[in-house]
Amino acid sequence: MFKRVPGTKDILPEEVSAWQEIEHTSRNVFSLYNYRQIRPPVIEDAGLFSRSLGEFTEVVQKQMFLIKREDETYALRPEGTAPIVRAYIENNLDKTAGFIKLYYIGPMFRAERPQKGRLRQFHHIGCEVIGSVDPDIDVEVISLAHTLLTCYGISGYSIKLNSLGCSHDKKELTSVLRKALQPKLAELCDECKARFDKNILRVLDCKNESCRKIVNALDFGHQHLCADCQAHFAKVRQGLDNLKVPYELNPHLVRGLDYYTRTVFEISHPGLGSQDALGAGGRYDNLVEELGGSPAGAIGFAFGVERLLLARGEVAAAGSLGLVYVIALGPQAKEYGIKLLAQLRTAGIPSDTDYENKSLKGAMRAANDLAARYAVIIGDDELKNNTVTLKDMRDSQQKVIKSEDLIKELKK
Ligand code: HAM
Repeated sequence: MFKRVPGTKDILPEEVSAWQEIEHTSRNVFSLYNYRQIRPPVIEDAGLFSRSLGEFTEVVQKQMFLIKREDETYALRPEGTAPIVRAYIENNLDKTAGFIKLYYIGPMFRAERPQKGRLRQFHHIGCEVIGSVDPDIDVEVISLAHTLLTCYGISGYSIKLNSLGCSHDKKELTSVLRKALQPKLAELCDECKARFDKNILRVLDCKNESCRKIVNALDFGHQHLCADCQAHFAKVRQGLDNLKVPYELNPHLVRGLDYYTRTVFEISHPGLGSQDALGAGGRYDNLVEELGGSPAGAIGFAFGVERLLLARGEVAAAGSLGLVYVIALGPQAKEYGIKLLAQLRTAGIPSDTDYENKSLKGAMRAANDLAARYAVIIGDDELKNNTVTLKDMRDSQQKVIKSEDLIKELKK
């Protein structure tokens, strides 16, 4: 028997409604902020990612799913930012639209070691704003992430904020770190020893205990920022304060992808265990030019949908979907039950019935299996009296109500 590829997941019918809800909420909120959807392909030239994420990043070095065909090497996209910048340039959106606000929803692929909240095929809901270096757009993007989380019904997260500065400042930060870490090199983990030469910023977010201790003792603040980047960062913080978006400054936040400049942020949730990032993003002011377009500032973020669902405790809540299961006993009641089902659906109430002529006991079992919220039972007595029996499947309490009051009662 074939099995699904490790680190992938079948999203089964009982889980799909939670996904649709998150997607639906996202579309509404993005429209509210005037973002339009873009759907780039899931397969891209592999070079796009080594060029933009950075040759020495973990994603490019270890995690890309590559497909070789004749002389070409393609990659299943590990993220959405580089493909969207590629699409922006290739479709001349820099010339026709200039400033543009885009969002996307779709699968991403990284060959990581699977664990809770870490998959090889996972899904991003994200956005990219291209064509502005205005700090007010950083504020909009971060507050949009905050609004989305609130609308998903997720609370208890924290937004970590930092500024890496421009390319010049990042070089400065690199040399500050190199100087500070040189005497501790022997105490770093093997991976960080390798990072020291090729990607020293990543030492800052290594999870290894001894590296954490060394890093936490470093005190480098934001001295590496030039005057322009200091001013930009001050405006971002002021704008977030004005909108009362809560955040914590974290000078150790560097992010794992090379394209970031200036503002970076990460949103974590304590309920997620070791993979605690719900989403992350930041500015990438040089990427459009590096990929062949005219210079254009840009910023975006992406949430991991599987982690959003974990944070919402969605699997446990699947039963709260509100399905109403109509149980009609006998042919006359059945005819009435079918009409009632149509009325419930017209009223926007998710509902279903038994099409296998089950006994009351069997139909109740079916309602249970479907995690229905209510059962509506129609037998001879109910038919005669123009009533239905409404049973709450959570506490098994039931009451007889007038048929015409059913929809009103359920909508309560
Ligand atoms: P990222 O931090 O690599 O950023 O991914 C964003 C989010 O995707 C993470 O915070 C996490 O929730 C989720 N995620 C990442 N890898 C996995 C995985 N293996 N399994 C499950 N979830 C995962 C980016 O990809 C950037 N493109 C974000 C961005 C957009 N920056 C600017 N614009």
